[in-house]
Amino acid sequence: QTIQSFNHDLLDWFHQEGRKLPWRETSNPYYIWISEVMLQQTQVNTVIPYYERFIKQFPTPSALASASEQEVLKCWEGLGYYSRARHLQEGVREVVEKYDSTLPERKKDLLSITGIGPYTAAALLSIAFNEPEPAIDGNLMRVLSRVFLIDDDISKQKTRKKFEALASNLIIETVPSAFNQALMDLGAMICRPKTTECTECPIQNYCLAYKEGVQLEYPVKTGK
Ligand code: ADE
Repeated sequence: QTIQSFNHDLLDWFHQEGRKLPWRETSNPYYIWISEVMLQQTQVNTVIPYYERFIKQFPTPSALASASEQEVLKCWEGLGYYSRARHLQEGVREVVEKYDSTLPERKKDLLSITGIGPYTAAALLSIAFNEPEPAIDGNLMRVLSRVFLIDDDISKQKTRKKFEALASNLIIETVPSAFNQALMDLGAMICRPKTTECTECPIQNYCLAYKEGVQLEYPVKTGK
């Protein structure tokens, strides 16, 4: 019951206030993959024009696979972290050869592809295939550490597992693609690292940190 209303309030807000982003207008897993790689170390606003140009220049996996590395890097110029682009192209070449140019839907297969780690696999499974996989990153851990008052050190690997278990219990009860992206937007728009807009928060009623007035003391991070 509580999980249901939590998810309902979160998704309701997402559908009304969530950001309209170009990679949310597609269901093409290849495009979503490109967006997730670009978004790994780069801000949303910077990514948007690069994403638009990239999918125009390389509209299909085979287009990217057959391009020269130089062409790909040229299109990536200014985004930084160029190994992301090289790995993406290598991964796409694997998809073309091993999976007939179609991104596989099994987690194990996704994780075997160059450039796809646990976060990207979870993002693809949830956003592109609507599978209930929580996309655990600093953003999600910040939001959930506040809502559930979790004071485990988020720089420890063990803590990720804890958030994964918690988020799994929520995401299995709702629409996975909307759930993960709603938390991303909440973390970017409301539940930010150094400032929060709790009065505008759709899940304020569920938030233990808000109740105690300790939002900015979470998440706990020692850096060790
Ligand atoms: N950061 C990582 N993935 C994202 C997405 N799909 N939308 C917004 N920000 C993101």
